[in-house]
Amino acid sequence: MRRLRRPRFRRSPFLICYWGEEGLVFENYAARTRTSAGPLACAILDFANRWRSPREFFQNFPDYSAASLRNALDQLTRRSLLWRSDRKETPVEKAMETWKDWNPAAGFFHFTTKDVEYEHDPDIVNRELRKQAKTWPMPSPVKRYPRARQILLAAPKNESEFPRVLLARHTWRQFSRGRVAVRTLGELLWLAGRVQRWVSVPGIGRFALKTSPSGGALHPLEIYVLSLRIKGLSPGMYHYAADRHRLELLKRGATRHDIARYVPGQPWYQDAAALFLFTARFPRPQWKYRFSRSYRAVLLDAGHLGQTFLLAGTWLGLAPFCTMALADTKLESDLGVDGVTESVIFAVGFGTRPPGVDWAPHPKPAHKR
Ligand SMILES: Cc1cc2nc3c(=O)[nH]c(=O)nc-3n(C[C@H](O)[C@H](O)[C@H](O)COP(=O)(O)O)c2cc1C
Repeated sequence: MRRLRRPRFRRSPFLICYWGEEGLVFENYAARTRTSAGPLACAILDFANRWRSPREFFQNFPDYSAASLRNALDQLTRRSLLWRSDRKETPVEKAMETWKDWNPAAGFFHFTTKDVEYEHDPDIVNRELRKQAKTWPMPSPVKRYPRARQILLAAPKNESEFPRVLLARHTWRQFSRGRVAVRTLGELLWLAGRVQRWVSVPGIGRFALKTSPSGGALHPLEIYVLSLRIKGLSPGMYHYAADRHRLELLKRGATRHDIARYVPGQPWYQDAAALFLFTARFPRPQWKYRFSRSYRAVLLDAGHLGQTFLLAGTWLGLAPFCTMALADTKLESDLGVDGVTESVIFAVGFGTRPPGVDWAPHPKPAHKR
């Protein structure tokens, strides 16, 4: 009979360690676990830089009993700080290989900031802020140099179309119950999402160019469309094929409850006609930019793409909005993406404008359903 090999231990490659208020804290940003632990844990993790047998641990820590070392190994394994050789790598850990040049800085930030719990009641948020403002006034949104020489500037002639669209762009949070023609949805995607031209670089590949700029022209963002009230398009989840200007049906059916699940704590968006979910395919920039600063470019790309959608939507007479308060993991699971090589970043959407207004911000009194 073959003897079973005893499991060996190695520290997870996705650990960050720092001093928090509770003392030394270890976070595994791939498993998204957080543990405060003492100096023995630190010494064990330091020693576990490669696969080590229990016997090696016993030999290296002679001042500790075998029982207490076993207990420490168990606890560290349970909290995902140590890996056991008889455990299969999870799909997330495997996919993390693509992040190796961006870790730990970008990976730590990206994965530990997913699925934040938001306060759902805007009245509570405002009450808290009013209380806070009494002792900690809100910082000024503008900066001035009052003693510097001041140069007066001209304003644009805003009777032309472009300034009018810029000035009409607002975040809408009330919508009428009308439907939007699928043709308008197509125009919006054509203007904001479509590949407008290709540039071939011999020996490297083809780069897409769109109406928004993108770091290195790598366009990491994908667009998914949750269609709710689009005339001529069944409710459901679609993927936008940016090169062919088509929607690919991923799942039939969508209701306002899906919006409630995907953009939690923002009931005002449940009357939207469509929601556009932006995901980032990280291997695109990771292939070229093998340093963590490039993570910033992905976020900047999302901002540019978002603004292009908002301006194009405004020009089309829609009531557009954007939000980053998203239920990341729920969305990723419904979209069938792994959350590592492709992860949700930002969302924009639109509804139809309520009649007779040029902007409908937060519903009053606070919208509760
Ligand atoms: C990065 C980002 C995140 C945002 N997140 C939310 C959000 O979670 N919920 C929401 O209702 N609006 C959200 N907004 C919209 C802002 O609240 C809005 O832009 C801001 O109040 C200024 O109003 P305006 O867009 O009408 O000029 C977000 C905007 C940006 C750029």
